[in-house]
Amino acid sequence: MAIAMGNTAGAPGAQTGAGQRYYRRFSPIERVMHSALMLTFVGCALSGLPLIFADRPWAATLAQILGGFTGAGLIHRICAAVMIVVFVSHVVMIFAKAFTGGNALKTFWGPDSMVPQLQDGIDIWNSFKWFLGLGPRPQFDRWTYWEKFDYWAVFWGMFIIGGSGLLLWFPVFFSNLLPGWMFNIASLVHGEEALLAVGFIFTFHFFNGHLRPDKFPMDTVVFTGRISEHELKAERAVQYERMVREGKLEATLAPPPTEEAKWFGWIVGGTALSLGILAIVLIVRSFF
Ligand code: HEM
Repeated sequence: MAIAMGNTAGAPGAQTGAGQRYYRRFSPIERVMHSALMLTFVGCALSGLPLIFADRPWAATLAQILGGFTGAGLIHRICAAVMIVVFVSHVVMIFAKAFTGGNALKTFWGPDSMVPQLQDGIDIWNSFKWFLGLGPRPQFDRWTYWEKFDYWAVFWGMFIIGGSGLLLWFPVFFSNLLPGWMFNIASLVHGEEALLAVGFIFTFHFFNGHLRPDKFPMDTVVFTGRISEHELKAERAVQYERMVREGKLEATLAPPPTEEAKWFGWIVGGTALSLGILAIVLIVRSFF
């Protein structure tokens, strides 16, 4: 079976015109929020990890680059504050969209929703059959099961890492409300959840989004917001056919990705990808 290797169509300067049609996959606000989440996550990870691995030479070097432990602490807090604002805005926007546009059912159920449903279980089963060579490659709708998994991992993680982080940030305030042992727990939970989140995002999420053969070395769709007709048909045939059937496809037609958005994806996204992989290498090395 032939597998398309690589994804250079989204590279800056690559031919995007010439009969190729594009559809809108992410709105401008979703693209901005993903970029802000990505940058603040990398910022929190790089400024927080030197505390966990304080006895490793690389941690001292990294902390020095970030302006010493004071500078790293400041970067950590700025990134954390922006991340919390992005997350709260995201939740507010979902509920606003659901309840003001009469879209509640569509937001929380159906093919456009991030809520897991029976079809995701069927897709997982069919994917494993495909991995083992026992069935054809499954086709997906708007969101695949692994995209939903990545989304919910970050969603719930935000409560754990954000909640424990706020306790560590404002101990005097929270000591009026909580017993002292909660701060020990918060410190432990924050560090362990950070390691889990870093380990997950910088391996699984990066692999799913960018490093698997179809996407390697980079999928710029979350930066450009556009998916080509070829990709839509090849990867999300169920969505494509549903939209044709419902007569909604033409309404999502969009101009080809701009060179600026592609450059942003390759430079800023590529830097985040490289820093994340470097962090994983340093963490793994620290255990041996
Ligand atoms: C989202 C809101 C967050 C808040 C409010 C927050 C806040 C904090 C604070 C106040 C500290 C103590 C550090 C110091 O005193 O300089 C800390 C430590 C730390 N943070 Fe965060 N943080 C957040 C998110 C994150 C994220 C997303 C990561 C990783 C991806 C992370 C990783 C770490 C690590 C590894 C430590 C060191 C923990 C330890 O010493 O065991 N933090 N955080």
